[in-house]
Amino acid sequence: MVETLMDKIVSLCKRRGFIFQGSEIYGGLANTWDYGPYGVELKNNLKRAWWKANVQERDDILGMDCAILMHPGVWEASGHAHNFFDLKSDCRNCKKRFKSANLKDITKCPECAGSLTEARPFNLMFKTYQGPVEEAGNQIYLRPETAQGMFVNFLNILDSRHPKLPFGLAQIGKSFRNEITPGNFTFRTREFEQMEIEYFCRPEDADRIYEEWVGERFNWYLNLGVKKENLRKREHAKDELAHYAKGCTDIEYNFPFGWNELEGIANRADFDLRQHSKSSGKELVYFDDQKKERFFPYIIEPSGGVDRSVLAILVDAYHEEKVKEGTRVVLKLNKELSPIKVAVLPLLRNRPEIVELAKKISSGLKKSIVTVYDDTGSIGKLYRRQDEVGTLYCVTVDVQTLEDKQVTVRDRDTMLQERINIERLKDYLGEKLT
Ligand code: GAP
Repeated sequence: MVETLMDKIVSLCKRRGFIFQGSEIYGGLANTWDYGPYGVELKNNLKRAWWKANVQERDDILGMDCAILMHPGVWEASGHAHNFFDLKSDCRNCKKRFKSANLKDITKCPECAGSLTEARPFNLMFKTYQGPVEEAGNQIYLRPETAQGMFVNFLNILDSRHPKLPFGLAQIGKSFRNEITPGNFTFRTREFEQMEIEYFCRPEDADRIYEEWVGERFNWYLNLGVKKENLRKREHAKDELAHYAKGCTDIEYNFPFGWNELEGIANRADFDLRQHSKSSGKELVYFDDQKKERFFPYIIEPSGGVDRSVLAILVDAYHEEKVKEGTRVVLKLNKELSPIKVAVLPLLRNRPEIVELAKKISSGLKKSIVTVYDDTGSIGKLYRRQDEVGTLYCVTVDVQTLEDKQVTVRDRDTMLQERINIERLKDYLGEKLT
C-alpha cells in the first residue's frame, strides 16, 4: 500500500511523541488526540507566538481567560441554542450518521446502501449537567467558541481598564462541538483549542478594520514560516455566512486532503452586544466621551484553531531528502516553533568522561535554551531522531573534545558542522536562535 503524506505525518507524530490516539489502550476514543512531549512544546510555542504578537506587543488588545461553562442564557442570546446545527441523516440499516451537506445528491447510505432518513437538524453543542441532579433545569453546555466569554465581559473590561475604541480582547482556550463528521487526524475534532480576538470598533470603521485584519492574519502565518503557495484567502458567499456574520474571509491551507479553513475573519457587526443586552438587561454599549455618543460597537473577529494550525505547520515543515544513507526525514520548523532548539549528544556513550561532559554542557544550556540530552543510540540514529522532531542544532561531544575543549555543532537544515569552543557555545547558539 502506498503511504500518503498524511499517513507519514500521523506515523511520525506517534513514533516521535507529538500526538497519540486518545485512550489508545482501551481501543481509542474516536477522534480524540493526546499531545505528547514534543507536541505540547510545539503547541505551546504556537500559542506563545500568537499571544506575543496579538496581546503583548500591542497596546490595543487585552488578554482574557474565561470559563468553559457559561450561563445557558448566553447560548439563547448568541443564537447557538437555535441556529448552531448541522443537518444529518441516519442510515436505517447500519445506523451510521452522515452530515447532509456531505451527501449532496446521494440518496442511499454510502457505507451499506441502506435507506437514509430525512435530513434533520442536529445541535452541535455538548450538553452536560451542573450539580448532582441530572434534570432539565440543570442542563448547561460546554462552550462551542471562546468568543462569548469576551462579549459578556464587555462592561467589566470597560469599567476596569477604560480602553478607547478601537480595542480588542483575546483569548486562547478549549471549545467543544459534537461534530457529525470529525476526521482528518486533528483537523476536525469534537474537543479543540481556539485562538480568538474580538476587536471592537466604530461601525463606520468596521469594513476597513476587517480588511486590515485579513491581511494581518495572513501575514502572521507567513511569518511563522508557512509556505505562501500553501495559503490562500477565501471570501464566504452570502449563503455560507454564520448566523451572526455580515462578512467572513477564511484563511485556508493546502492540506494533503485539500484546501481547508485554518482561520476565519468575520465581521460580526453589533449582533453579539445587542443580543446580550436584550437578553441580560445590561446595556453593553460604549460611551464616546468626546462625541458624547452612546452606541453598540461593531466586532471584527479573527478566529483560528490551535490544533489545525499545528497540523498545517507539521505538514508544511515535513521534508524528505535523499542522503548517502537513504532518506532523511526532517521537520523544517522555524526557530520560534521548534519544540527543541538544541540536543547534546555524546559520540561514544561507553566513555564516562564524554557522557559526563555532555550532560554538564546540556544542563548548562538548559537554563536559557530548550535543550535535551540523548545517549540512547548511535550518533547516526540520534541525528535522525533530532531531524525528525525539528531540533535546530545538535552539539556532539567526542574524544577530541576532552583535549581541545571544542564541540561539533551541526545545523539541522544544511547539515554543516562547525567546531566551537565550549566557553563560547552558549553565546554562539544564543545568537543563532535570536
Ligand atoms: N467564534 C467564531 C468561530 O468559532 P469558526 O469558524 O466556527 O468560528 C474558528 O471556528 C476556528 O476554530 C476555525 O477556523 C478552526 O480553525 C477552529 N475549529 C472550528 N471547529 C473545529 C473543529 N471541530 N476541530 C478543530 N478546529 C476547529
